[in-house]
Amino acid sequence: MNLWFLKPEYRQRLSYHVALLGGVALLTSAAIGVADHLTRADIAQRQLEDLQVTLQQVVPATYYDNDLVRDTVTVDYGGRPLVVYRARRGGQVQAVCYQVSAPGYGNTAMIVAVGIDRAGTLLGTRVISHNETPGLGDKIELSKSDWILSFTGRSLNDPQPEKWAVKKDGGVFDQFTGATITPRAVVKAVKGSLDFFAAHRALLLDEVTPGPIAGQPAPDGGNRL
Ligand SMILES: Cc1cc2nc3c(=O)[nH]c(=O)nc-3n(C[C@H](O)[C@H](O)[C@H](O)COP(=O)(O)O)c2cc1C
Repeated sequence: MNLWFLKPEYRQRLSYHVALLGGVALLTSAAIGVADHLTRADIAQRQLEDLQVTLQQVVPATYYDNDLVRDTVTVDYGGRPLVVYRARRGGQVQAVCYQVSAPGYGNTAMIVAVGIDRAGTLLGTRVISHNETPGLGDKIELSKSDWILSFTGRSLNDPQPEKWAVKKDGGVFDQFTGATITPRAVVKAVKGSLDFFAAHRALLLDEVTPGPIAGQPAPDGGNRL
């Protein structure tokens, strides 16, 4: 029996298969494009909310009456742009907040947020993401231990610079049982954030006009280093 209608001649041509494949690829990329467009605003909103939560944890609400997420200055930090959020009250910058990176156990990045007042004193510090080992290095999280609060009230001279280390290295900050690498890296990153504040104090506090690197708006909720 001739079943030509089941396998028409045009379906055996190479051009038919090429066109079919092209059509499917086109439809798929169009669908991905539409989905990306629809979710982009949601994702940006979620990132903004995450950032606001982070900032609120390290800068007390009494320090600002502005929208600090949108009051930023971008400053060069070791060759990379770092977005600094300014907490203003009555127009004057009362505190700044930024996120720095620290190499954790296995060299995976930990992100540390710091809030620093005009005098260079730490108002708050939080590790907002990390891959440290549960039960060993994760005591840097406030939900696991209050270790991270030991930075509050500290500044570059409290303790003295050489004491900005874990106790095992002659410093004042506790290490964890069986885990020194993680707290050591966090201490170093927090000290680095204070050094950065000291080096750029006038710019961060909006007391000088930003130069060519500084002064760019925050890209999409904020960079970190
Ligand atoms: C599987 C495994 C996971 C570990 N995870 C961590 C960690 O997340 N953070 C950490 O500081 N040390 C971790 N350690 C322990 C470190 O290897 C190291 O022994 C400890 O930090 C002490 O470092 P120190 O000799 O420099 O004082 C881990 C060890 C093992 C075997």
